[in-house]
Amino acid sequence: MKGRHPMIDTALYPGTFDPITLGHVDIMKRAKRIFSNLIVAVADNPEKHPLFSVQERIEIIKEATREMDGITVSSFSELTARYAKSINALVIIRGLRAVSDFEFEFQMALMNRKIEPTVETVFLMPNEKYSYLSSSLIKDIARRGGDISCFVPDIVKEKLAQRYSK
Ligand code: COA
Repeated sequence: MKGRHPMIDTALYPGTFDPITLGHVDIMKRAKRIFSNLIVAVADNPEKHPLFSVQERIEIIKEATREMDGITVSSFSELTARYAKSINALVIIRGLRAVSDFEFEFQMALMNRKIEPTVETVFLMPNEKYSYLSSSLIKDIARRGGDISCFVPDIVKEKLAQRYSK
């Protein structure tokens, strides 16, 4: 967009994405209406004992967002705020599904601002139909043979079916 500082055009959407759901994709689409470049970054946080490796999560997100322009997928293991600064993203995008997300997100946003005062957090609300989704619920349903088609991109359905058939 003309006249805007180029750095403002880049936003970082960090998360565990284990795996990405249509709720995450919905947030990405909303962020893309505001920012030209969206860096979706997989947090390397082994303490969450993710089902998919960082590389697998990156590949899954790339496939799920294949038809969206201006999305770059990466990973990081440093502090989110520092990573944002290092890639010239002045905004961190976070999704708020319900009031219950607020307290933790508020705390993280303030801590991130303390770490990097020039980086702001912007909250976006997903479509209500995804407000009760979480990656853990999706994995639980898939593991027990339930239908997750309306909650995840096709690639996630495939990968979960492969993983749980082993
Ligand atoms: N649709 C569906 N599900 C969503 C969602 C949406 N729009 N938004 C969040 N969720 C779910 C996720 O699926 C996930 O579910 P799970 O707990 O069942 O796996 C849960 O909400 C949390 O999601 P996520 O957005 O991945 O947050 P997180 O808490 O796993 O990750 C980080 C948060 C990675 C941003 C944070 O831990 C971080 O910044 N880590 C890096 C280290 C750091 O900087 N620490 C200091 C922070 S102040």
